[in-house]
Amino acid sequence: MVITIDGPAGAGKSSVARGLAKRLGFRFLDTGAMYRTVAYAAMKRGIRWDDDAALAELARSIDIDVSEEQVLMDGEDVSSAIRTMEVTSVIHYVADHPGIRELLVELQRRCASGGDFVTEGRDQGTVAFPDAACKIFLTASPAERARRRQKDLEARGEEMAFEEVLKRQEERDERDRNRPVGSLVAAKDASLVSTDHHSMEQVIDELESLVKKQLASKS
Ligand code: DC
Repeated sequence: MVITIDGPAGAGKSSVARGLAKRLGFRFLDTGAMYRTVAYAAMKRGIRWDDDAALAELARSIDIDVSEEQVLMDGEDVSSAIRTMEVTSVIHYVADHPGIRELLVELQRRCASGGDFVTEGRDQGTVAFPDAACKIFLTASPAERARRRQKDLEARGEEMAFEEVLKRQEERDERDRNRPVGSLVAAKDASLVSTDHHSMEQVIDELESLVKKQLASKS
């Protein structure tokens, strides 16, 4: 069974998806890590961002293994390397690439097949798992999201002024919303949940009861 959590950067998806999976005894799949790994690989190998064919070939050739504990690229632990600002700033070249999206959606379906998963991303309820048992779209105000992002960066030793975090977030939102495939949009049958003024634990509580209610009404 698959439960999808989509939403913009900084809405708290990762922590919430991880926490919800733990409560339900499900596994957790971070699909953003897959896009990050391809962007990191392209950066490392010096592939030109306008070379669509080379990017697609690269995505096909590397082995991406995303588990709850770590992210492996051809066996190398890239869990931290894929989360730098440098990678974040180029990720749209990969996320906007229809061929790479198709490949990664296939990988996501293979990863989740036959298991119980909470998957997290932008297009999980709309493209990757349109028949998911339960779909959630997490939101939060731009200011709240930027505050969280700034804290995350700080925790990794990367300082950035709040206004700059907010500006970059707006640019990323714009791109996420407007990409021709896999754009950030709530599935029609998704439950919209705001994380503003709520602790992660409160949001996980809310989602746990929402999911249990929805699953009970379907059975
Ligand atoms: O969730 P994240 O910040 O780690 O995601 C990194 C980028 O990958 C983000 O800018 C959007 C993209 N992404 C996507 O296009 N589709 C997904 N399912 C997950 C992430």
